[in-house]
Amino acid sequence: MTMLDKPNRTAVPAPSLDGGVPRPNLISVEQAKAMSIGDITTAFKDHLNPGQLHFMKLLGFHKVKIESAEGMFYTDQNGRKILDFFGGFGSLAFGHNHPRILEARRKFQDEKRHEIAIAFMSQYAAALAKNIAACSPGDLDMVFLGSSGSEAMEAAIKLAERAAGPKRPKVVYAENSFHGKTKGVLAITDGQLYRADFKLTDNTVRVPFADIQAVEDAFRSDPEIGVIVLETIQGGGGIIQAPAEYWQQLRALCDRYGVLWVADEVQCGYGRSGRFYAFEHYGVVPDVTALAKSLGAGKAAVGAMIARREVYMKAYGTSKTAMIHAMATFGGMGEACITAIEGINVLYDEQLIDRAADSGDYLFERLQALKEKYPKIIKDVRGKGLMVGLEFQDFSQTLPMVLRPVVSVLDDKLKGSLSGFIGALLLRDYDVLVAFTEYNRNVIRLEPPLICERAHVDQFIAALDDLLGRGIVRIVKDFVGSQIGS
Ligand SMILES: Cc1ncc(COP(=O)(O)O)c(C=O)c1O
Repeated sequence: MTMLDKPNRTAVPAPSLDGGVPRPNLISVEQAKAMSIGDITTAFKDHLNPGQLHFMKLLGFHKVKIESAEGMFYTDQNGRKILDFFGGFGSLAFGHNHPRILEARRKFQDEKRHEIAIAFMSQYAAALAKNIAACSPGDLDMVFLGSSGSEAMEAAIKLAERAAGPKRPKVVYAENSFHGKTKGVLAITDGQLYRADFKLTDNTVRVPFADIQAVEDAFRSDPEIGVIVLETIQGGGGIIQAPAEYWQQLRALCDRYGVLWVADEVQCGYGRSGRFYAFEHYGVVPDVTALAKSLGAGKAAVGAMIARREVYMKAYGTSKTAMIHAMATFGGMGEACITAIEGINVLYDEQLIDRAADSGDYLFERLQALKEKYPKIIKDVRGKGLMVGLEFQDFSQTLPMVLRPVVSVLDDKLKGSLSGFIGALLLRDYDVLVAFTEYNRNVIRLEPPLICERAHVDQFIAALDDLLGRGIVRIVKDFVGSQIGS
């Protein structure tokens, strides 16, 4: 028996002899750290998500147990160092376990500081809000603190809806948008997979992304529209951008029609694009925005909604309305806040926003060269700073007939996905981790930590170049081989 075995799941444990509550079969912290891959797999299957395990197996991720992580690298159970170009979907601006972040947290614990921010006024929540306002342009001054991107976006659309008023309850959102999976924001997340058949709010209007005419037509034809919500760079959609004029025209249209613009910067914000907020590239300021992911500096769960003061006051500015959407139990937790405060200081002290712009330009340049070298494999390279999408040619056009029977043994999810094969082989053969996108399975998403240096880019490019040099036929055969061997 392993430490995870439960001899009899359904039996009610007998009361202990002294009459107290009997102790269940619990795993200790040290035992958790020492779990074998077999133990983890069993617990994952029995208690977390058996279906997700299936996908991990397809990609070969189930063979890796991460023991530690530092800077740009994970270290696995065999001491293998894995270069992290996934970056937790943009959550790891500082890489893993940045020493200044660790030190701030350690000191906070040693001083026995308090955590809960909803009884007394918290100096940590107040200071973090002040820091976020200092990083935000215009009068984006009012901050709501939560613990995820979905929660920040829930706060954003609720606030905007209230500020727009009851006569203008409709919210415009974009095709291929991703704003989170909680019930409220699911209504503005454009993925059928996530929406499934849930009953969602029906006060929404969908428009194509980056199409200003569609926005104007919607605003003109429906006076009930009060809010528009857009990711400044679409992440889940496959790293899709709109041109600068789009954002300038959007701001003008919102002003003309009195519509509030909510910019979702959960993934593209916090310096990743080469500016603190991606919308700053276009010289415009939204009415409401949201941050999460790297705001927690890779060690805490922190999300924030940031609103123009005037908009905030309309929604929650009186004592009667102040508590409608005040912070939840874990909003503004002490250690999470000081982690985020130290993070913002490190971001500027180490000039990581400039580093993102510089390393991003270099990565883009090197990927463009690979695109020229492998035009039959790479279709497009796009993005800003260290938020980069690498799109592969459609599988059906690049796969020689001879490979069709080989691929037919694969799971349906992988059949059309060259990015799945390439991601799996980058990990297996080159110790490099990349990410996929929610809606476009031909795209690999590259969001390395902002501490990424040119040498890391060189390591990544050398791995990709060598892999692509195998050619499509060998890439597919090598991948299918790894499936059969797993
Ligand atoms: C643009 C965007 N908005 C919102 C979210 C939701 O964030 P979370 O997963 O922290 O709830 C995400 C997550 O990937 C995102 O990319």
